[in-house]
Amino acid sequence: MKVLIACEFSGIVREAFRAKGHDVWSCDILPTEIPGQHIQDDVLEHLKDGWDLMIAHPPCTHLAVSGARWFKYKQKEQVEAIEFFITLINAPIYKICIENPISIMSTRYRKPDQIIQPWMFGHGETKATCLWLKGLPKLKPTDIVKGRLARIHYESPGADRWKCRSRTLKGIADAMASQWSNL
Ligand SMILES: C[S@@+](CC[C@H](N)C(=O)[O-])C[C@H]1O[C@@H](n2cnc3c(N)ncnc32)[C@H](O)[C@@H]1O
Repeated sequence: MKVLIACEFSGIVREAFRAKGHDVWSCDILPTEIPGQHIQDDVLEHLKDGWDLMIAHPPCTHLAVSGARWFKYKQKEQVEAIEFFITLINAPIYKICIENPISIMSTRYRKPDQIIQPWMFGHGETKATCLWLKGLPKLKPTDIVKGRLARIHYESPGADRWKCRSRTLKGIADAMASQWSNL
């Protein structure tokens, strides 16, 4: 398949699909952390490039309910974030997964198709992650483990803290690549 991993700087989901033999590209306005097939650009310029599958991780800063106390100061940014999400989910691609934390998109768009947790995929921690799916089955847990640490609350402060919080976990990336490869 020709696969687009939209809004990914880490390269983690891209590499999981590459290991399955796909022609996969990540796209982000930032450079990729793992050298590989990466488009450093606005992903909106690349939605019509003939992809079979897109997995997108749009920014959640102005959408996540955890930031609700700031919404009133960032209304323009929030409108833009909603439009960005809607443009991605309406892209002309048959199979789409949009990933975001618990966010206002559950009411502004629709409820997610499923909510997953890292501990369902081999990482002993919690971070509720919503998936909106088109043309894809729900992701099945691959390795349910015991830990329930909210790791993201213990990340040390610093300029790269948001990156540590937002990198997709490998267990989830591997599950997506295994379960959504041969549909
Ligand atoms: C929440 S982070 C997702 C990180 C991802 N889970 C990973 O492992 O790399 C959102 C990403 O969207 C990127 N982004 C924001 N606007 C974009 C755009 N118009 N086109 C491409 N990427 C964009 C940001 O640079 C950021 O890296």
